Amino acid sequence: MILSDFSRGRGAFAEYTKVSADLVWKVPDNTLAHEEAAIFGCAFWTSVQALFHPARLNMTEPPEKVKGEEWAFIYGGSSFVGMYALQLAHLAGYKVVTVASPKNWDLCKSLRADAVFDYKDPDVTKKIKDITENTLHLTFDTISQLSSQSISVNSFSPGGGKAIVIQPPQKEAEAIRSDVHIQPTLIYTSLGRQFELISTFPSSHEDRQHMAKFLKKVPGFVSAGLIKPNPVKLWDGGLDGVNAGLDYMRKGKNSGEKLVYRISA
Ligand SMILES: NC(=O)c1ccc[n+]([C@@H]2O[C@H](COP(=O)([O-])OP(=O)(O)OC[C@H]3O[C@@H](n4cnc5c(N)ncnc54)[C@H](OP(=O)(O)O)[C@@H]3O)[C@@H](O)[C@H]2O)c1
Repeated sequence: MILSDFSRGRGAFAEYTKVSADLVWKVPDNTLAHEEAAIFGCAFWTSVQALFHPARLNMTEPPEKVKGEEWAFIYGGSSFVGMYALQLAHLAGYKVVTVASPKNWDLCKSLRADAVFDYKDPDVTKKIKDITENTLHLTFDTISQLSSQSISVNSFSPGGGKAIVIQPPQKEAEAIRSDVHIQPTLIYTSLGRQFELISTFPSSHEDRQHMAKFLKKVPGFVSAGLIKPNPVKLWDGGLDGVNAGLDYMRKGKNSGEKLVYRISA
């Protein structure tokens, strides 16, 4: 695996990893097993940044609750990022609509989605517009391909709004409507230092501050059972098993789960 300069010495394919003190939180006693705590990383942070950062969707941030009834669309509720987004949006008091394969509908509902539809259903945008009574103006697309960005844009209310994506915006999707702003986000900016990934990303003090502040609240949410770990698939073999796990993911076999390895007894 080739790591770019910003992550040299900081990779996680190892027994130990270096992290900054303000970007960690203490797992409260008698709450999460190690393998459950281990999965509150990239996907969880990405959802926090996409939903609550003032320069992303700027949704009401827990423990505050949004006033009145407001819908948020989480495209891809069974992706790992999506599963945390469902929980976080619900925690902030939003009504949540999502899309996933039918086999994952119960999972999405257990993570507090109010409505879930099949992304392969040709009527999916109509169903989203119906359930939201054509009021949608907040979307987090956790898949961010052309098909997902197109469904996202087509589901907005007449007033338009903002869709946060975690892959580059697709020109064809951007061309569908001028009143929907498709904006990318990248979790590494919350590390607060400059890095190279295709282009140069400047250091962002704001992004780091936002994440560090949110992480302080996480132990309380976990203790109160307000945020639960997403499903874990334990994979045998420790670090030697990682390549087999990567192959499983490359073949698209992972669905509604994250692979976790035990690397010491
Ligand atoms: N920008 C960032 O900072 C950032 C951070 C983290 C991740 N990412 C990116 O975010 C994406 C998601 O990562 P992840 O770890 O959450 O993925 P993941 O859990 O590995 O994604 C697998 C899930 O994707 C769903 N899926 C696949 N194609 C779909 C489609 N066309 N429509 C709806 N759902 C679809 C599948 O749902 P079903 O099985 O229900 O069909 C499956 O459960 C990746 O591209 C990753 O690189 C970006």
